[in-house]
Amino acid sequence: MPPYRPIIAIPGSEITPESAYLQRRDILRLGAAGGLALASPSLAFGATDLPAKPGGYDPQEQATPEADATSYNNFYEFGTGKADPAAKSGDFKPLPWTLTVDGLAGKPATFDLDQLMAFELEERIYRMRCVEGWSMVIPWIGFPLSALLDRVEPLASAKYVAFETVVRPEEMPGQRGAFQPLPWPYVEGLRLDEARHPLTILSLGMYGKTLPNQNGAPVRLVVPWKYGFKGIKSIVRITLTEEQPVTTWNRSAPGEYGFYANVNPEVDHPRWSQATENRVGGGGFFGSNDRPTLMFNGYDEVAGLYAGMDLKANY
Ligand code: MTE
Repeated sequence: MPPYRPIIAIPGSEITPESAYLQRRDILRLGAAGGLALASPSLAFGATDLPAKPGGYDPQEQATPEADATSYNNFYEFGTGKADPAAKSGDFKPLPWTLTVDGLAGKPATFDLDQLMAFELEERIYRMRCVEGWSMVIPWIGFPLSALLDRVEPLASAKYVAFETVVRPEEMPGQRGAFQPLPWPYVEGLRLDEARHPLTILSLGMYGKTLPNQNGAPVRLVVPWKYGFKGIKSIVRITLTEEQPVTTWNRSAPGEYGFYANVNPEVDHPRWSQATENRVGGGGFFGSNDRPTLMFNGYDEVAGLYAGMDLKANY
């Protein structure tokens, strides 16, 4: 039995607090009445209601408390500490925003936030795991990346997808000053078939609302079978390429972070095991909450993407 089950509609009471459940019932009613209401991004970003139809996977686990998911993470543009993204992203302005999709595409295009919000938004409750050993269960709101790629009509020569985060030292304190922990912009990449897998989404929200700055407002990548660093935030450019793109963590520490970064309990990080993980907020922060890590984070349906590959060499 896989540790999750595919769903059409989930009883929200299984995984969300009652307030969110009531809100989701309203959303379902809206959907049944013909057409889902779309939030207007001209409203303030961050904590703005963002209706979406239920549509993902229910890992049959408790969602991580929102307060934990929005206060403990990595976003080095705001600093290297786990509390920095929440504490130091207040000056960041996710509006207005544009996302350019270019490269090996028949119809390259630039999308504003209204256009991104007009894609069919779904709530996807995904298990997430960081290479550092912590994990969370997060109700994302977004749409399949493949829907965006379809719009620009990838050419036959396109084999990979490169992603790039905004550079704004004036709004991102981690990009100013003498110590620069990473080269900017933060960049990531996927093989085209990984990018087009139905589990891969561009997220515009979490916990029923638009993304907070610290979690990658206004648009970020979510790939639930890969370690958290693949989930590039505040994306301004997506480029279809023929060659495998450079990725930030692979460039900075190639012996520790590969291009693929699939969650794999059998391939240890050179400095620590990947066999177990600690679920943030689940009754004990670190140490008291060890659980086994699952291959591909439990999303077995992606295994075919890697058939015949040596996942020890391609870590
Ligand atoms: N995206 C950018 N632009 N900058 C970053 O430093 N950190 C990554 C990823 N995306 C990062 C980023 C890492 S290491 C992790 S673990 C996740 O964001 C954590 O954030 P999340 O919990 O919101 O997914």
